[in-house]
Parts: sequence; structure tokens; C-alpha cells
Amino acid sequence: MTLIHKYKRLDFACTRPAPSFFAFSIDMTSPRIQNIALRQKVMSADAAASFIQNGDHVGMSGFTGAGYPKLIPLALSKHIERSNQNGNSFRVSVWTGASTAPELDGALAKVGGIEMRLPYQSDPTCRTQINNGEMDYIDIHLSHVAQFVWFGFLGKLNVAVIEVAGILEDGRLIPSSSIGNNKTWLDQADKVILEVNSRQPMAFEGMHDVYYGTERPPHRKPIPMEHPGDRIGDAYLHVDLNKVVAVVEANLPDRNTTFAAPDDNSERIAQHILEFFGNEVKKGRLPNELLPLQSGVGNIANAVLSGLNQGPFDNMTGYTEVLQDGMLEMIKSGKLSMASATALSLSNSAMQEFLDNIDFYRQRIVLRPQEISNHPELIRRLGIISMNGMIEADIYGNVNSTHIMGTRIMNGIGGSGDFARNAYLSIFMTPSTAKGGAISCIVPMVSHVDHTEHDVEIIVTEQGLADLRGLAPRQRAKVVIDTCAHPDYRAALHDYVDRAQANARAGHGGMHTPHLLDEALSWHSRYEREGRML
Ligand code: COA
Repeated sequence: MTLIHKYKRLDFACTRPAPSFFAFSIDMTSPRIQNIALRQKVMSADAAASFIQNGDHVGMSGFTGAGYPKLIPLALSKHIERSNQNGNSFRVSVWTGASTAPELDGALAKVGGIEMRLPYQSDPTCRTQINNGEMDYIDIHLSHVAQFVWFGFLGKLNVAVIEVAGILEDGRLIPSSSIGNNKTWLDQADKVILEVNSRQPMAFEGMHDVYYGTERPPHRKPIPMEHPGDRIGDAYLHVDLNKVVAVVEANLPDRNTTFAAPDDNSERIAQHILEFFGNEVKKGRLPNELLPLQSGVGNIANAVLSGLNQGPFDNMTGYTEVLQDGMLEMIKSGKLSMASATALSLSNSAMQEFLDNIDFYRQRIVLRPQEISNHPELIRRLGIISMNGMIEADIYGNVNSTHIMGTRIMNGIGGSGDFARNAYLSIFMTPSTAKGGAISCIVPMVSHVDHTEHDVEIIVTEQGLADLRGLAPRQRAKVVIDTCAHPDYRAALHDYVDRAQANARAGHGGMHTPHLLDEALSWHSRYEREGRML
């Protein structure tokens, strides 16, 4: 019997067998915890947090504000604060799926409790501490994290802290709003702490697909997926019950995601992309229903999805990391027949829509571990159309997704590299300028490279779309400047290219990718000194 069926029966019967001398006592443990052994391990978040030791590597659930533990990290931060007030230096390394929320990253960072963080994060306190050199950060492709841990590249995982929606009688776990790296954390950690969150809908049961077939090289087998909707795994997470040291009950919502209405720039970027898709279909390079869509997070991505929702393409599919409002709307309208992701990160109103029509959505959404949602083999096989935001691109098509002025981390590479390298089409989008026009997002040379010219096929700004496929570097420079750069910066960019070529012709460099090495990053250094690039 699934827990969702039992739950209806048990909702008002909060009892469990108690020791005979307490036979009269009423057990208030949540009916969501059906396993008898784990019911005995229910305790306060404070008691559970005391299992985490100074210096531990802690694997936490959580992906883009969805499915992260809400009480234990807060309790841990209080332990750390108390310990450090007594003159200790208590710090842990925090490994997650991706970004979490103020109750996790924010709370631990505020007490100086994070020694090292990986992978993607977007917390303002973490960002400040990383950029001040007070916290180490390893920015790693999201598809690499799980296997790096099995391979032993990151050292031992001491504790896993995982939010779940419920625990079945046999100990299998019902995942919550994200899966991320939970399978790996549960497998690899010495100790496991579970946070059972009653606020997570029981209706999640059956929506997940946890693939347990990945082996280490040289024993790897092909992953048996040919369509984004294929189910190849188990609806539940597994854990060795002997490793579970604590179970904590919670009743708290995920971080809210809010989206601004698309601004002019986002709408223009979306229009360029829709027009491009239309032309690709006409040329026979994309089918009428396009190919499975991957969409990065944020307002530009949502504007593109909203454009697709109004546009001419039907029966599309999604194969992405995070399912946000835009894709949910497309499923609702029928434009998107299904979507696969690792996390469901919705605004309050979209979550309400999801819950009100859960049977409809459960048939059309699959949540998977991030090693599968971002797997290069699958991205290449399925022929994903990848659309991600960026900080800046250079005239030759190299893209910086992570660093402001080359040195300060913004968030991290996330899954953008997993998708860009392997996609059928890799698209990067940004407004052409930032900071009120003081910064050009098209520059002579990017100040940090996340995606090389070899992985970037399309660059889009509100000015236009540069299709770089089949173009040599000097051809790319012309197209990128003429279509994507803001008119205020075009002449300066052309002047840079002209002088770089003259320099090469004069014997001071090559003509393949002409650059003025003394000047290539001068736009960034001028911005640092004077607050403007030109
Ligand atoms: N130089 C300096 N600063 C810049 C800049 C540039 N070229 N371009 C943007 N910025 C600043 C903005 O001014 C803004 O600053 P603020 O926070 O002080 O207001 C900030 O960077 C964010 O810019 P915004 O336009 O709001 O970005 P966004 O929300 O569209 O996000 C990325 C853009 C690149 C930060 C985001 O897409 C990201 O983190 N990408 C990497 C991970 C990824 O692609 N994930 C999806 C993968 S599957």
C-alpha cells in the first residue's frame, strides 16, 4: 500500500506501539513516518543537529529553493554559534544539490559555520563571504557532483541531512520537491538524518523516478532512456536504516520563488528566440514540436517560456533541471506534453495550481536525480535545446556565466555547462548592457570563461540573435558585434577588432583569433577604476 492511501486512514490515528509502562500515552508522531524503527528515532532538531561534528562534510538536500531541510540547519547554526562563542572554531563543509534558502545557506553562513560550499549557490551572505575569502567555494558542474563523491574525489561524506515527504513502512523514502543529490548522499554518508516535512504534499508520491543503475567505470552501462518521459527507476529513495541516527518532523514551506513580469528586454530576447525556432523548423533543422527544452532560471527564461506558450509550436517536451512557473503554465495549456526535472520550484500561486490539479500534473512531470536530469549522455541523445542566462560574452563567442569583472562569483555554473556542451542547440541570453549602460555585456574578451566558443552556438540580447554555427572566429566577431552589442558599444568593438587585425598583419599576433593582449581586459579594469567600461 502506498503511503498516500495509508495517510488518509492514519491522519486521525496518530498512535504507534509504545513501551507497555507508557501504554496510556498518546504518540503524536506524524502518520507520515510509517517505519516502526524510524519512529523510535524521532527527536528535536536540536538533538539531531548534535550528531554533526566540527569539520564534517555534510550532504544536504535542496535544489533551487526546493526540498531543503528547514529545521536542522537552523539548529546546527545555533550549535555552531554557541560553540564559537566559547572560543571554538566549529565549521562544516556543506554539499547540496544546488542553491537552497536563507534557513540553510544563509543561517549557517551568518554564524561563520561554512568552511567550504559546493556546488551552485545564490545566497547573498555566502556570496559575500566567498568573495571576501572567508568561505571556500568549489564551483562544479551539477552532473559531476554525485560521481565525484562515489569516485572519492571529495573525501568522505560524514552526514546526510535529507528532507522527505514521508517514510513507508519498509523504510523507503518519499522524496519531496527536489531530488538533487539525495540518492548519493543517502548512499555515501556514514550517518543519515531525515527531516519529514508534512507541508510537502503527499501527492508527490509516485512522481519521482530515482535511477539506481549507475555504476563506476569501467562497469557503466547505457542509461536506458530515449524520451524525456521514460521512467527508468524507482519512485522512492532507499536508505540503510541502520545509518539513520535521527528523524525530525517539520511543517514548513519551501522558499517562495517570485517572478517579475517580463520587462522589455526579456520580451525582445524571447521574440528573437521564437523567430529563430520558426526559421529552424522551416529549414527542417528542428521538428514542428521542437526538441526537449532546457530552460535556466530567472526572468528572461520565464519570458521565453511564456512566449513559447503563446507561440505556434505544439506538443513540446521539457528536459530541464528546475521546473518553474513558465513550464507549469505550458503543461497546463497543453503546449508542453510533459517535463522532466530534478526540482519543482514554483511561486505560491503556481504551487496552488499544481496542488489543485495534482493528478493531471503527476502524469506529466517526472522528478529525477540531478545526475540524470543533467546527464551528458542523455542531453546528447535527446537533443536538448538549452537556454541559459549569462553575465557576458565576448566577440568570439566565449561565455562568462559566473564571475563579475573576472574575480567575484555571482552564483555558479550550475548545470549550464552540462547542457551547453552536449545540447543540440546551446543558447545564451543576456541584456546587452548592465548597470544602467555602464557595462557592455559584449566585450572584447570575457573576464572569466565558463563556456568556450566551442560550446556556444547562439548568443541573444534584446538587440538581436547571433547564430555562430559554422562561423570562423573573425566571422563570429562581426556577427556578434552587429547583432548583439548595444549600439553605444558597437563602434568601440569594431575598432578593437580592426586594430587587433592590423596588429596581427604587422606580425604581432595571429589572424585566427586576433586580440590586443594589453587591451583585451581593459574594459573591465576601467570599470573597476572608473565605474564605466568606456
Ligand atoms: N558585468 C557585471 N555585472 C553584471 C553583468 C556584467 N556583464 N551582467 C549582469 N550583471 C549584474 C546585474 O547588474 C545584476 O546585479 P545586481 O544583482 O547588483 O542587480 C546581477 O549581475 C544579476 O544580473 P541579472 O540580469 O539580474 O541576471 P539574471 O537573474 O538573469 O542571472 C546569471 C544571470 C548569469 C547570474 C544567472 O543566469 C546564472 O547564475 N547563471 C549560471 C547558472 C545557470 O546558467 N543556471 C541554469 C542552468 S541549467
